[in-house]
Amino acid sequence: MAKEQNNDLMEKLVSMCKRRGFIFPGSEIYGGLNGVWDYGPLGVELKRNIKDAWWSDMVTARIDMVGLDSAIIMNPRTWVASGHESGFTDPMVDCKDCGMRLRADDLSAPCPKNRNKPHGELPKDKLTESRQFNMMFKTYVGALEESSAQAYLRPETAQGIFVNFNNVLATSRMKLPFGIAQIGKSFRNEINPRNFTFRSREFEQMEIEFFVHPSEGMKWYEYWRQRRYQWYLDHGLSKGRLHLREHGKEELAHYAAGCSDIEYDFPFGCSELEGIANRTDFDLKRHMEFSGKDMMYFDDQTREKFIPHVVEPSAGVDRGALAFLCEAYHEEEVKGETRVVMKFHPRMAPIKAAILPLVNKDGMPEKAQAIFDRVRKRYNAFFDDKGAIGRRYRRQDEAGTPFCFTIDGQTQQDNTVTVRDRDAMTQERINADQITEYLHDKLHLEDC
Ligand code: GAP
Repeated sequence: MAKEQNNDLMEKLVSMCKRRGFIFPGSEIYGGLNGVWDYGPLGVELKRNIKDAWWSDMVTARIDMVGLDSAIIMNPRTWVASGHESGFTDPMVDCKDCGMRLRADDLSAPCPKNRNKPHGELPKDKLTESRQFNMMFKTYVGALEESSAQAYLRPETAQGIFVNFNNVLATSRMKLPFGIAQIGKSFRNEINPRNFTFRSREFEQMEIEFFVHPSEGMKWYEYWRQRRYQWYLDHGLSKGRLHLREHGKEELAHYAAGCSDIEYDFPFGCSELEGIANRTDFDLKRHMEFSGKDMMYFDDQTREKFIPHVVEPSAGVDRGALAFLCEAYHEEEVKGETRVVMKFHPRMAPIKAAILPLVNKDGMPEKAQAIFDRVRKRYNAFFDDKGAIGRRYRRQDEAGTPFCFTIDGQTQQDNTVTVRDRDAMTQERINADQITEYLHDKLHLEDC
């Protein structure tokens, strides 16, 4: 797709997200805050569906995984041990003309003081020398704002898992190979937040640390690359837009035995959705060293004692949401008008069914309300009795609702309703008492 078309698509998506209540600029009434976003009524359902699907598939359905919810603020020594305090930095430069701060490896942002030329095309002396900038947000614990009270907002959820390795092992009685999974907020003071929610300063991660015998590290690394790639395909991302990219040796951290990115063709370019790394014994070894605690694993069958290796599939909820939004967005010509329809996978669709009385009389609203009360016990449903029926269908198309059930004059006579299919726009009549069974059969949520 041409660059202008892609920019156009991104603009349309951002405006649709605002208009329909998927995503709003954070604290907008005060002018917003760069790199911070709020999820509206539809967005929060989409994000919850992503997290629920991930938790259900990666934790609940597996006997080799347990969950965790660790604190956002951790003992600062955690970040010394993990290497974040010294190494979680990006090189940054400042523009001497407009004062903008940019990542030294991305100078594409335009300079308003130089006729919007990209900073990379300005003479070199317009930019300061590159300096390292630590991306962790600082805060203070307790009443005193002094260096001994300084702590950080976590830049990843993973370290909460490592520091709890012994606790989880002792309480869950898991045996290797097993994983610990966690979903939670992370914070990074990104120099250039951009591309909508793609690079934010506050975001959510879904991370797994999967602990294995050192001899099995690469086997499990291969397993998780494929498992995670397939998960996105299973939820509607198209194969043509989803890539599994193995890092070259020169890209690997010194301790890593392998690393891959799952990348998606966003309208602004192909970018990372999730990383999968074989981190060997680096993290547990460092925490042993810095805490003085024994974090070795004892295999009571082989009588072997060793530091487990770890494979880490690390996904971003917000990037997942953005990819599902991009994939779902369709514009179609219908009777000379453009319909915007979000073709979400049923599991991801924020609303599963809309209940619509055709008109507000002749007992239709009461009947519709009774159906709505029944359906929403099992599915997230929406009741809408405002405006012409065609407009109500269009509103549900934009929300990505797979099925609309309309209660009309015939319903009073034979207890049937029309069902409209979001994608095909076809309609059929079914018995009103069969709606939940119909949704059960068509949405296939139990098979996901
Ligand atoms: N524990 C490993 C780790 O955090 P990462 O590649 O830095 O690895 C993992 O982050 C995932 O978190 C990314 O693939 C991305 O989906 C998400 N992520 C990272 N930084 C982000 C940001 N600034 N905004 C939104 N999502 C981000």
